This record gives sequence, structure tokens and C-alpha cells, in this order.
Amino acid sequence: MQLLSVTKRFNFSASHRLFNRDLSPEENCLLFDACSKQHGHNFNLEVTVMGPVDPVSGMVINFHDLKRIVNDSVVNYLDHSNFETDIPELSNVVHTAENLIQFIWKRIAADIAAPVKLSRLKLYETADNWVEMA
Ligand code: NI
Repeated sequence: MQLLSVTKRFNFSASHRLFNRDLSPEENCLLFDACSKQHGHNFNLEVTVMGPVDPVSGMVINFHDLKRIVNDSVVNYLDHSNFETDIPELSNVVHTAENLIQFIWKRIAADIAAPVKLSRLKLYETADNWVEMA
């Protein structure tokens, strides 16, 4: 059966600093430079799911359902948060885009019902900097 991809873009704003508690303040400054200080981003998140086209609806997934799932599992949780103080699941990792996207993947993937699957995430920290997970 032919599988198609469907993508929707989301936005949220959050603050973080890149800081490893196992390192000294000086080592964090050397490793992360200005990013070791508290700062914020307007994140863009592209969520791609893949699946067969349902013959009744003509859809892989209803965009409205995808919006609700991602808003409930990720956007409403992270928007206007400080990762360090507000998101306990991120307390043991450095708040890089690489670690953040793995956390986001787990939350969305758990809420996408078969036969549709989460197939790709793109997380933009800025227009020029992003990470992908597939
Ligand atoms: Ni940053």
C-alpha cells in the first residue's frame, strides 16, 4: 500500500541555557560560550507523519487531529516555559535542540494511532539552525 507523508508546522517560545551540572561554571562557559547564559528562542517544529490514505476520509490524518495531538502533548506543555525550572523530564539532560527533539519525539509518537506513524521531526531554534530526527 502506498504511504504518504503529511506535515504540519508549530511554534512555541521557551527559555533555556546550555549548562551541564557535572561541569564547573568555567567549563560550561568554555563549552557553551554565550549559550551558557539564560536566553530564549521562538522554536519552530515541523511534524511529519506517514501512513496510508484512508479510503473513507481520503486522508492520512486529519490536520485538525494532528494539531490537537501536538498541541496537547508538546506545544502547550513547552510554550512559555523555562526548561530548567518548568519541565522536570528535561532535568537530567543539557537543553540542546538534539536532546529536546528526542523528548518531543517520545511524546508525539505515543499519541499517533496506527496505521499512521510519526516519521520525521524538524526542530528549528532559529531560521538558520535546526535538528532533524527520523
Ligand atoms: Ni539557545
